Amino acid sequence: MALSTEILFQPVTIGSLTLPNRVVMAPMTRSHCPGGVPTAAVADYYARRAAHDVGLIITEGVLIEDPAAGGYPDCPVIYGREALEGWRLVIDRVHAAGGRIMPQIWHVGEVHRLGAPPNAHLPGLGPSEVRDGDQVVVRAMDEADIERVVAAFADAARNAREIGFDGVEIHGAHGYLIDQFLWEQTNRREDAFGGDFTRRLRFAEEVVKAVRGAVGDNFPVVFRFSQWKPQDYSARLAPTPELLAALLLPLKEAGVDWFHASSRRYHEPEFPGSGLNLAGWAKAITNSPTISVGSVGLDDVSWMEANAAGLEPLLERLLGNEFELVAVGRALLADYAWARKVREGRFSELIPYTRAALSSLN
Ligand SMILES: Cc1cc2nc3c(=O)[nH]c(=O)nc-3n(C[C@H](O)[C@H](O)[C@H](O)COP(=O)(O)O)c2cc1C
Repeated sequence: MALSTEILFQPVTIGSLTLPNRVVMAPMTRSHCPGGVPTAAVADYYARRAAHDVGLIITEGVLIEDPAAGGYPDCPVIYGREALEGWRLVIDRVHAAGGRIMPQIWHVGEVHRLGAPPNAHLPGLGPSEVRDGDQVVVRAMDEADIERVVAAFADAARNAREIGFDGVEIHGAHGYLIDQFLWEQTNRREDAFGGDFTRRLRFAEEVVKAVRGAVGDNFPVVFRFSQWKPQDYSARLAPTPELLAALLLPLKEAGVDWFHASSRRYHEPEFPGSGLNLAGWAKAITNSPTISVGSVGLDDVSWMEANAAGLEPLLERLLGNEFELVAVGRALLADYAWARKVREGRFSELIPYTRAALSSLN
């Protein structure tokens, strides 16, 4: 490899937070928290990565306090004594290993359907009603629902700060509740929270403002957004730089400190006429710190192999100051020592990503 990986492993100070390096663990749902409570095995899982040179961990999606917030089994929550105690242990272990950690706070919105776990008797909540035949499987949120869910995001962030997390990431990506409000195909409202781009943005703005109000200044608030949706990888929330600015600048104004630009391949230019990726554009538009993500350390063809040479374009972009931080997902699931091995140039020892890594909590 021609370029040194040194830039990945330099400490970086962003606002009030100093990170030991630029490697971030991407948020990944693991479904290993029965009853919503992170166990000692979850603490081990995160601490192992912190001990092997992951500078910042963004946890798996963590549910805010709303009975319809979840859509998958055994996801953690961020309220109630038991779960908060579980998180305290995770935080202590990660800090003791030299890492930093933020929870990703999450409401799945209409992904939860009547009949689905964890609260099968409840319909989902979303910007617009969804029916299955005669049955309402997702209820359109009224203003009281909106107020309650916004407050639950704020409470989650307050809890995060109180128990010692280093910041909080709001999950505004991947077709979940906040993104459902943003996207015209899922938001068919005709009130102040639906209609044109500015009105569809209002729910996200309210969440950010409430979160900022709950945590005060000097506590990083990160907003994760994506163009793509799980049901449509080619979807584009902001098809032009102008619309991306219309999305991000009001969110910055509302209180976002950093943006986490979720793309599936970090090396793909986002808009014609420039090599910048989504995080690069987010930074150019907002002048805020950004996190890039997508297929770092994975072979682009098979999506299944850790691959050293593949880091070269990433290092070039980092050296060009296109974004501050780099999140790594699947490569870090497969190999908890991924960052340590990259730092030490032990590329031949990297463990290739396979589907088996999805179910293990090693
Ligand atoms: C098993 C798994 C679970 C994931 N869960 C989440 C999640 O809870 N929240 C989120 O924002 N993204 C989630 N993602 C997306 C990742 O954060 C990341 O953006 C994606 O995997 C691309 O990065 P990678 O190519 O390095 O894996 C998940 C990905 C995987 C593989």
